[in-house]
Amino acid sequence: MNNLFATKPLDLLLEEMKGENRLRRVLGPWQLTSLGVGAIIGTGIFVLTGIAAHDKAGPALILSFVLAGVACIFAALCYAEFASMVPVAGSAYTYAYATLGELFAWIIGWDLVLEYTVASSAVAHGWSHYFQNFIGIFGVEVPKWMAKAPFDFNPELGRFVGTGSVLDLPAIIIAAVIAAILVKGIQESATFNTAMVVVKLVIVLFVIVVGAFYVNPANWKPFAPFGLTGISFFGKTLLGQTGAGGEPLGMFAGAAMIFFAYIGFDSISTHAEEAKDPQKDVPFGIITSLLVCTVLYIAVSAVLTGMVPYNKINIDAPVSDAFKQMGLPWAQFLISLGAITGITSVLLVMMLSQPRVFLAMARDGLVPPSIFGAIHEKFRTPWKSTILTGCVVGLMAAFLPLRILAELVNIGTLLAFVIVCGAVLIMRKTHPEANRPFKCPMVPLVPILGIGFCLLLMFSLPAENWLRLVVWLGIGMAIYFFYGRHHSVLAQRRAAAVSGERRAASDDGGSRAAAGKA
Ligand code: ALA
Repeated sequence: MNNLFATKPLDLLLEEMKGENRLRRVLGPWQLTSLGVGAIIGTGIFVLTGIAAHDKAGPALILSFVLAGVACIFAALCYAEFASMVPVAGSAYTYAYATLGELFAWIIGWDLVLEYTVASSAVAHGWSHYFQNFIGIFGVEVPKWMAKAPFDFNPELGRFVGTGSVLDLPAIIIAAVIAAILVKGIQESATFNTAMVVVKLVIVLFVIVVGAFYVNPANWKPFAPFGLTGISFFGKTLLGQTGAGGEPLGMFAGAAMIFFAYIGFDSISTHAEEAKDPQKDVPFGIITSLLVCTVLYIAVSAVLTGMVPYNKINIDAPVSDAFKQMGLPWAQFLISLGAITGITSVLLVMMLSQPRVFLAMARDGLVPPSIFGAIHEKFRTPWKSTILTGCVVGLMAAFLPLRILAELVNIGTLLAFVIVCGAVLIMRKTHPEANRPFKCPMVPLVPILGIGFCLLLMFSLPAENWLRLVVWLGIGMAIYFFYGRHHSVLAQRRAAAVSGERRAASDDGGSRAAAGKA
């Protein structure tokens, strides 16, 4: 029982950093920031803004972006403190192991699978939407049976309906290509990512600057057609309107959905082990990338809802379609191309992060090290788990709809943020003396606000997500109790230490008895 709540000592974590089987330290502060922006701007802004504005928030989506951005900034400050204190691969999983114990660490590690692997599937879907939008400009269409997931939620009917398709083939193909690039190496991946980040930033700025000329302020009225709230408690709407399927509607509900757009800044903390100066550069990368994206998102949502009446916003490729509706097909071409590039970089970073979390878990014995701890001799990358991640991402993206995947990711990530904020509070009490090159300001206020805002967003998601989260965590618990608990390196170390002490005590007792006889 004690082992469930055993924490991994901070000194041990730092000691392990010096061992063999390390990743290459090649990333500087701007490369880390670029990885952050690479992970952040993608399907959220290019695709989910459509669903959120059209079905949940209307023009009040602008405020949804502010709300979700504020929640993320509180969480980011907490991540930054931890990342500077425990600069090892594994992110929130490792932080939880150092503070809350093995069981919590496992829960959060399993939760991060939800964040990275399931998010990658959602992002692969977004990629497929824009890819099809792009080739559509040239009159080319992917055959219907391989264009989409086989079912999707219909907000008017309030239930799931068949789409007439069998699977989303472009989503599978992109997942396979990215997995192959990632196996090749982090340096190559980071360089490829930087190029894509430049392209997507140019396109986002283009949307803001050119789109601003087409804004008609009349489109911002009514500003909040679904209201300024949207909170439910396990299926019962507490504040705001309710949709046909019982889901909350309004500005908060919009924020809970587009929260997805912000996910990714935390993935920088999974690269701590590959950073040249992790204690300084990782906090810098986390905070800078998040701030840049928050400003851009608020501007894009203002322009988008100003260009097109909210109920005419396209839900598959909203940003490029807005320019098409303005009679600017060349802009549609540019934006689709930029969105495809941007979304590719998100996929790259998300799929880069997952194997690194697994690697940390494998080193602790909680998942099989032969698969998840294997580092390729030549490329120095966790190649087996990268390939496995690619397969799972491709399969989920092929058969599950974007909405379900995105909402599931959001609730899982919000839970991870709550735990990280809580862990900062605990660590300040239990290890006040630890070296913190970056300190979260105004503790305990900032972590408490982080927890409060994230819980608020969790309750603004459709209630069935809680059920899905519980099922997911239940599967995770089963794996832990059948596998992880019995293979935990920390538990084995503790057992060895206890038997060592016993042996020493009995040797001691034996020699005293012998001395007594003599
Ligand atoms: N923030 C990432 C995206 O929007 C996950 O695609």
